[in-house]
Amino acid sequence: MGGVWSNTFGLIKSLMYGPHMLKPDGEHPPVFRTNNGVPVVVLLNRDTMQYVFNPETYEKEPFCFGYLGMSKDAMRGHCPSMFTNGEDHRRKKALLIDAYKHGQKALPSVLFKQIKAHFGEWSRLDEVPDFEDRVFHFFSETLTEALFGRKVDGQLCLTWLNGLMTDFKTWIPMPSLKRKRRLALEALPAIWKAIEEAPKYQELVQLCHTHGVEVEEGIFTILCGTIFNGIAAETAAIVSSVACLHTISDAEKNDIIQTTLQVLEKHGGVSEESVGEMKTLESFLLEVLRLHPPVFSFWGLARKDFVISPEKENIQVRKGEQLLGNCFWAQRDGSVFPDPDRFRWNRFVGEDEQGGQKKHLFFLRGSWTEAYDFDNHQCPGQDISFFMMKATLAVLLCYCSWKLKDAPVWSDKPIRLGNPDDPVRLKRFNFRSEQAGRALGIRPDNTSPNSI
Ligand code: HEM
Repeated sequence: MGGVWSNTFGLIKSLMYGPHMLKPDGEHPPVFRTNNGVPVVVLLNRDTMQYVFNPETYEKEPFCFGYLGMSKDAMRGHCPSMFTNGEDHRRKKALLIDAYKHGQKALPSVLFKQIKAHFGEWSRLDEVPDFEDRVFHFFSETLTEALFGRKVDGQLCLTWLNGLMTDFKTWIPMPSLKRKRRLALEALPAIWKAIEEAPKYQELVQLCHTHGVEVEEGIFTILCGTIFNGIAAETAAIVSSVACLHTISDAEKNDIIQTTLQVLEKHGGVSEESVGEMKTLESFLLEVLRLHPPVFSFWGLARKDFVISPEKENIQVRKGEQLLGNCFWAQRDGSVFPDPDRFRWNRFVGEDEQGGQKKHLFFLRGSWTEAYDFDNHQCPGQDISFFMMKATLAVLLCYCSWKLKDAPVWSDKPIRLGNPDDPVRLKRFNFRSEQAGRALGIRPDNTSPNSI
């Protein structure tokens, strides 16, 4: 019974205080034991976090992040790659990487078309109270069209996403989660039909065969990797970016705009090349993801017995114990990031690509400067997501203006995925469609002269 109560109090504290529960008095050792809904060994800095990056020291628990489980029904029983290990994980990750490579070819032209359509729609509204959902719809329709050859309705995907992680390990009744799960199950047949009828479905079926993954399992792997891992994180990052732009001065914002415009002029518009060169904008985005990562918690079960920090904290971990790496605190480590709590948009400008502070950015579940591989669970969507997020931000900054309804305030609730406490709403949104169209290479009739 004691365990049940510690789990319950831990869960309540974790949901109320988020990462601050792990440093209640401002400080804590880099590794210690606590209960945040389940008993965990918490890892808080760059050295101790390695235990949830190195596949020799952790393994994933099927369908589960510590105290929070995934609805198996919403996945028709198929375990997504992020919860699998060994050969099963390797096959699924290889499939995902191949599917993303195929999708990447179509991505620029699909993205540019969707920017014009969605931003144009936002600008025709008096207010945009549901801005966060609309950003999700925009990314979701872009990425599903690039991958499947036809977009899947963004609201259907959001309904499905909202019902995925709804299985809390607690006796406290949570009726609203039951409802979300039911809605997700209702949305699934329409999503499935849209994918099966999409032009690239047979191509993806072939990829499943190539990687030895059964077709339904493979399509769920791609769907979950894209909607849950990808679009949810990208949406959170852009919403946080819009909120952070509110916190810097006009002169600072203007600096980012001018350097981005210079790159656009040099290259004649938005393209993979010009986006790659937008280093000031990239620094801004990395700083957003440093202070407001969409995923705070990296879970894993100890694969064997080992000792962490034997000379200091000397924590003896037993095989099967729950590990919890916390990226929120690791990216606020003052020994790595000078003035760690301050938002400095130009922090990474001029930094060596392989070294400096960038090496200690962990928001993709591994160092920003190291590539993912088939054995670890590091994000394989880095190239896709940075192209999409930087191109979107470039258009927002250079060809749009908006007014927030409320000033953003962060108390870092995990449920808000790094976003400010209250949903970001816009009082108005203006879009200079013709200018943006020229930068995106889209004619006023919405055709693209240079299919990229
Ligand atoms: C701001 C953008 C993004 C962030 C911060 C991010 C972060 C992460 C993190 C932290 C994980 C590890 C999850 C875990 O194991 O606990 C992950 C995994 C993953 N991400 Fe991303 N991600 C982003 C964008 C994307 C995009 C755009 C895609 C798809 C195109 C994507 C696809 C995936 C997939 C498939 C996995 C599972 C990898 C595996 O099973 O080994 N991510 N991501």
